[in-house]
Amino acid sequence: MKKLFIETYGCQMNFADSEVVASILKEMYSLTKDIQEADLILINTCSIRDKAEQRIHKRLRELEAYKRKKRTLQVGLLGCMAERMKEELLQTEPVLDFIAGPDAYRSLPQLIADSQHGHTSFNVLLSKEETYDNIMPVRYDANGVSAFVSIMRGCNNFCSYCVVPYTRGRERSRSPKTILGEIEDLLKDNYKEVTLLGQNVNSYYWKEEGQEVSFAKLMAMVAEMSPDLRVRFATSHPKDLSDELIETIARYDNICKCIHLPVQSGSDEMLQKMRRVYTRESYLERVRKIKEMLPNCAITTDIIVGFSGETIDNHHDTLSIMREVGYEYAYMFKYSERGGTLASKQYPDDIPDEEKTRRLEEVIALQGELSMASNLRDVGKTFRVLVEGASKRSDDQLFGRNSQNKVIIFPRENHQIGDYVDVTVTECTPATLLANS
Ligand code: SAH
Ligand code: SF4
Ligand code: F3S
Repeated sequence: MKKLFIETYGCQMNFADSEVVASILKEMYSLTKDIQEADLILINTCSIRDKAEQRIHKRLRELEAYKRKKRTLQVGLLGCMAERMKEELLQTEPVLDFIAGPDAYRSLPQLIADSQHGHTSFNVLLSKEETYDNIMPVRYDANGVSAFVSIMRGCNNFCSYCVVPYTRGRERSRSPKTILGEIEDLLKDNYKEVTLLGQNVNSYYWKEEGQEVSFAKLMAMVAEMSPDLRVRFATSHPKDLSDELIETIARYDNICKCIHLPVQSGSDEMLQKMRRVYTRESYLERVRKIKEMLPNCAITTDIIVGFSGETIDNHHDTLSIMREVGYEYAYMFKYSERGGTLASKQYPDDIPDEEKTRRLEEVIALQGELSMASNLRDVGKTFRVLVEGASKRSDDQLFGRNSQNKVIIFPRENHQIGDYVDVTVTECTPATLLANS
């Protein structure tokens, strides 16, 4: 059988999609981890920031060399960049034999066949229905313990800076039956943790024959499948974080106590321009609700610095909301203008890059302090960890995560990957907790 090598960039949704792609092609190709022996290389791409796209262009230059060495090698580009740049990519990147957008993966066998006959082929049609719901992903890169399960696709929010609604199309949910079926199979294979994925999971909604399923209801259904199965989710938009969902997280021990709640900015002026639909105050009200109902819950976030017109005061509002919430962890970015978005049409990208860098550094430094303070509060506490693998530093040590999604390193002793172990934290760095078991 021919050999397929897949390289994935971008968000967890893309990693989940690559598993779907591997499944669609499994009759034609077996997977390889050695790019040298590949007959087909697929690059699953991300368009979220300019840097992400530059990285892919650079990678395509490198792939040209492989193609010179092996004439029969085919290279295909998948994902958000395929959607954003469409046919233009085929013209400017001769290394590509075909491109397929995020809703076009079922047509991959056809695209590959067409391109073998000398046609450059592409399919970047977006769909209102496609959820790949009957396709069982091939978990080729998983650790055998923890898996991603895609439950919805697309996004309807149109935050003014963001390219995702254009690259992923309209929001659509996958049927509960196929989601539960997929998790049932994971349980049979001894998986212990699932992360339910979507760009905006809490707007998950399914209605069929009088049965209505909200995201909170779906979470409860998954949590009830097995007390030994940990359930996580990503990402939730603050505007849809319902009391029902917070109560559901509180009700089940096996729903992890960690909520990723991207704030983007602490300034009402910026939030309004970003079209985030919440205010600083309504965001903080959700945080108070989480802290009241889930006292041990970690809260993590995404932050953008240097959005159009961001003043120093606006920036200080971001720093102060970070302190007020006390995030456990944050993904922090400089604003990157994306063609086609509302912001690119209406708001100038007017903060100089050096100033964006300076603000980003401030945000990163503050998050370092907050993460360290949070970790110091954990010293002396005992947590249940799900063991994921050997620690990078030493084979005598294992690592796993607690419910709050913090990485904990502890002595191997007789513990196995996939075990739940109770460990007591003795020391910490800003990034990890060290423990005894
Ligand atoms: N759907 C998720 C996030 C998807 S993208 C949500 O809304 O929470 C992940 C993160 O990338 C966003 O939360 C945002 O912080 C960042 N991001 C998106 N577009 C960006 C842009 N144009 N420039 C910089 N960061 C961006
Ligand atoms: Fe982008 Fe906003 Fe949708 Fe998130 S919710 S994917 S930031 S448009
Ligand atoms: Fe990137 Fe597309 Fe995900 S733009 S962040 S791969 S949805």
